[in-house]
Amino acid sequence: MVCSARLAFFLISATDGSGLYSIASPECRFGCGTAGGFVPALRDAGYAVAGVDPQAPDAPGFHRIAFEGYEPEQPVAAVVASNSLHHVGDLAEVAGRIHEVLRPDGILVVMEWGWERFDAATARWCFDRLGVAGDDDHDWLRRRHDDWAASGRPWDDYFPGWAAGHGLHAGRDVVAALDARFDRRHYAEGPYFFPSLAGVAYADEQAAIDEGLIRPAGIRYVGAPRSSARGRV
Ligand SMILES: C[S@@+](CC[C@H](N)C(=O)[O-])C[C@H]1O[C@@H](n2cnc3c(N)ncnc32)[C@H](O)[C@@H]1O
Repeated sequence: MVCSARLAFFLISATDGSGLYSIASPECRFGCGTAGGFVPALRDAGYAVAGVDPQAPDAPGFHRIAFEGYEPEQPVAAVVASNSLHHVGDLAEVAGRIHEVLRPDGILVVMEWGWERFDAATARWCFDRLGVAGDDDHDWLRRRHDDWAASGRPWDDYFPGWAAGHGLHAGRDVVAALDARFDRRHYAEGPYFFPSLAGVAYADEQAAIDEGLIRPAGIRYVGAPRSSARGRV
C-alpha cells in the first residue's frame, strides 16, 4: 500500500489511537507535498485529526507552522511524524514537544529515513530502478544521482556531505532523541525507497535487504511517553 500523506505531523485527539499503527502500516509510505492527503483519509476512518506542517494546505484542520510552535487545545492521543524528524532544527526540542502534547497514555508513531544507511550499494540498486523523469515521487532520487554523477566523487564521500549540507539528522540520532523520552513499543528497520522507484514494491525492497544487496534505510518507531521524562525539554 502506498498512501499519500503530505504532512509532517498528525495529531490525533478524539480516539485512543488504537489501530493507528495498523493504518500507518510498514508498507505505507507517505508523499511530500501540500495536499494533506492522509488527514482526510484519517478523518474518513473516524479520527479527529489536525495536520501540522509549514507546507500544510491552507484549509480547516491544517496548521501551517512548525510543530514546535503548535499548541493543541488539549493533550492528544497520538502523534504521527512521517519522514519529517530528520528535517527539524533541534531534535531534542521536537521530541520534548511531542512528549508534552501527548496524553500520558498516548502513542507516537514515526516513519523515518536512516540516510546514513544509503550506502554505495544501496544507491546503485536504487539508481538502476529510477522511474520516469518529471514525476515528483521519483525525482528526488534522480536529482541525487545526477548531482553525484556531476560531482565526480565516490558516493560514500559525496552523499554524507550532501546530507550534512542540508542539515539532515541521521536516523540513529532521531531514534536516540526519541529513546530519551519514549519507551519503545515497536521498532523496525526496513524498506524506504520503493515508492520512489519504478516497478518496485515493498516486498521487492525487503527481498533485496534480506539478500544483503542493500541496507534497510526505513525506520518505524512506535513509542509511549515515559513518565520520568515529563518536564524535560
Ligand atoms: C520529506 S518531507 C515529508 C513529508 C511527508 N510527511 C512525507 O511523509 O513524505 C518533510 C516535511 O517535513 C516538514 N517539516 C520540516 N520541519 C518541520 C517542523 N519543524 N515541523 C513540522 N513540519 C516540518 C516539511 O515542511 C516537509 O513537508
